[in-house]
Amino acid sequence: MLAKVESMAVNGIDGYLVLIEVDLGGGMPSFDIVGLPDMAVREARDRVRAAITNSKLEFHFHRITANMAPANIKKEGSGFDLPIAIGILAAKGDVKPDKLQEMVFVGELALDGSVRPVNGMLSMTLAARAANKKYLVFPIANLAEASVIPGIELIPVENLLQVCDFLNGIWTPGHEVFENLSINQVAVTTEAYDLADVKGQEQAKRALEIAAAGGHNLLMIGPPGSGKTMLARRLPGILPPLCQEESIEITKIYSISGLMSQGHSLIQQRPFRSPHHTTSPAGLIGGGRIPHPGEVSLAHHGVLFLDELPEFPREVLEVLRQPLEDGKVTIARAAMCLSFPARFMLTAAMNPCPCGFLGDPYKSCSCNPLQIHRYQSRISGPLLDRFDIQIEVPRLQEIDFDSTPTAETSAVIRSRVEIARRNQQQRFEGRSCFCNAQMGSKDLKEFCKMEPSGKELLRQAVQRYNLSARAYTRILKVARTIADLDGAVEIDLEHLGEAIQYRSLETKRG
Ligand SMILES: Nc1ncnc2c1ncn2[C@@H]1O[C@H](COP(=O)(O)OP(=O)(O)O)[C@@H](O)[C@H]1O
Ligand SMILES: [Mg+2]
Repeated sequence: MLAKVESMAVNGIDGYLVLIEVDLGGGMPSFDIVGLPDMAVREARDRVRAAITNSKLEFHFHRITANMAPANIKKEGSGFDLPIAIGILAAKGDVKPDKLQEMVFVGELALDGSVRPVNGMLSMTLAARAANKKYLVFPIANLAEASVIPGIELIPVENLLQVCDFLNGIWTPGHEVFENLSINQVAVTTEAYDLADVKGQEQAKRALEIAAAGGHNLLMIGPPGSGKTMLARRLPGILPPLCQEESIEITKIYSISGLMSQGHSLIQQRPFRSPHHTTSPAGLIGGGRIPHPGEVSLAHHGVLFLDELPEFPREVLEVLRQPLEDGKVTIARAAMCLSFPARFMLTAAMNPCPCGFLGDPYKSCSCNPLQIHRYQSRISGPLLDRFDIQIEVPRLQEIDFDSTPTAETSAVIRSRVEIARRNQQQRFEGRSCFCNAQMGSKDLKEFCKMEPSGKELLRQAVQRYNLSARAYTRILKVARTIADLDGAVEIDLEHLGEAIQYRSLETKRG
């Protein structure tokens, strides 16, 4: 007695179909699952047996073999419980098999037969639709996520008996299930972090606006308590709103990582990730036996904030270089090679010295020159180079807090950023880059035309501060963004002058 049931799994961030064949034989009781299952899949045997008997259905107490194809990809997770159970019941003839090939099943089974949510529902729903399946049978707790994708009939289920009733044609989910959902879907984006909360710090805010407008990486240097963390936290709020495609990409990543809260369908806010400096390279970049996304992917289309940058071990920072260049990470394992998207804005904060008060007007620094040198040189030149904008964030005095007038809101700043970004979209139409920060050398030649006086200023700055060729191109890109915010076609002296100011660490070191 043989039955075939289709299910799904996720590889990287994309779902794919898995065919499960269940064969029932006679003889001594045994239950084997073959086709590269991992531990959680092998444990399905115990859950499936208990779920079927506790649902008052009849289990097959002889030989059971379940085979999963394609056999060359390692299967992980607990989402195969439901399709395996249905395979057994179909092979026994307890459910009607006639509509099975139009359906895909996914879901974990509890011992009492209820169906539990799975990770990666959005990716799997897309895969089911791409395979032209008519029905998707899945855990009701995943409904919000699955309902994002139109074009496939959703059958959200609570328990195994419901699935049997659906297959036998005596139950379908009622309208009320989907109607309740629409209330949940209006997840409003609340502006919890507004730049208007930050008093003063006009230079830092300006730098934040430029960084957002051109997609530039940003480094803030200043004493403790000067508001660096506060400023960084407000960066996602001045970036343009996400488009549908970006939302789906982010939601896929969060969904396979198990970070979607129940009832949430699509992530509509740009992510802000702030990993601690004790994070391992695998935690940052992604990893594991079957690779999972790391912080760089969780920050996709958003901001990755590294607070206390010099505290991060060098090998951890080194792994950032590939995603910063390519916008994705590739993780190679003996069994597979996977890649996850990781296009983020890197923002970092650091103190100027170990005690934190070097150059502070109100408190003297207690470090000696050697300590300061050691501290600052923990950040390698190549990494420092990758921050297009480096600014100092001074500490405000108590008086400044009361006297400063109310500042611009994030919404006002965002509207300027959006205009600048739209210009860039037109500029880079049909090319591989999306914003000024990603320009290659060809684009630089074409789009960064300077006035002669500007050229001369840049030449002098390179000479005086001994700037690297990389620093030179970084300044040009930032100047391009400043000119864009200004609505200017050509880069002029003022734009360049401001851009040179944003290389504060190098101009000091040099
Ligand atoms: N410019 C500012 N406007 C309003 N509050 C500020 C400002 N700067 C600092 N603060 C206050 O000081 C606290 C510490 O700021 P934080 O961002 O953690 O500093 P840092 O990260 O530089 O050490 C903030 O939570 C905020 O309450
Ligand atoms: Mg801080």
